[in-house]
Amino acid sequence: MRKQIAAANWKMNLTYDKAMELMDTLISLSPSVATHQQIILGVPFPYLLPVIQKAKQLPQTAVAAQNCYTQAAGAYTGETSAAMLQSIGVEYVILGHSERREYFHETNAMLAEKVNIALAHQLKPIFCCGEPLSIREADTQNDFVEAQLRESLFHLDENALINTVIAYEPIWAIGTGKTATAAQAQQMHAHIRDVIARSYGAVVADAISILYGGSVKGANARELFSQPDVDGGLVGGASLQAEEFIQIIHGLK
Ligand code: PGA
Repeated sequence: MRKQIAAANWKMNLTYDKAMELMDTLISLSPSVATHQQIILGVPFPYLLPVIQKAKQLPQTAVAAQNCYTQAAGAYTGETSAAMLQSIGVEYVILGHSERREYFHETNAMLAEKVNIALAHQLKPIFCCGEPLSIREADTQNDFVEAQLRESLFHLDENALINTVIAYEPIWAIGTGKTATAAQAQQMHAHIRDVIARSYGAVVADAISILYGGSVKGANARELFSQPDVDGGLVGGASLQAEEFIQIIHGLK
């Protein structure tokens, strides 16, 4: 069975003390995680190292950065390289979040470069895709998401692709309290898997975890994750509360 994943995306939230408090609460509540399940904590850069240390006390937990730069090293003030992340033991990197596409003008082509440099440093990309409301209303979301995947991921060979996690996050559902229905999530996840299967074959498509993101909460996680092609969630707001996030973890199949 492919990995079922509860991934937290803290975004630009929490000061250091609150972040450590959240880690300590998660540890004290000791979530139960089966061997085919995984927790990933996507945290701000200054907290990566202490969270990596504390995460050793959580079962099957890896840590993700929320971005990295396209270039290997050099005069890029304020940026963080994949090599830096690798050197401190980060395992995953969230790439192409809709907030980065919107506010920082990240394009599919730029994300292809970030995916490459991440994989070259043994970082597994959590590649985000998903359509804005206007595309959903025009009912062209399947083509929109397919283009995002093709332009940023489909240059990879199958061994590289298999090391990526895909997160489908419809933009109209992020931080809005408006969750896609389980049926809408399943429809898009099945489409994504089908698009992968057409280029890489069913075995590869079957091995890739596809997470749903967009207003996942303790109360709706289990229903979303019960869909056959929904392999867990990428969780923003609800990952900032330990009890809520643990309920989401316990909603994994
Ligand atoms: P949300 O964010 O859970 O707060 O909607 C999800 C995300 O943006 O990854």
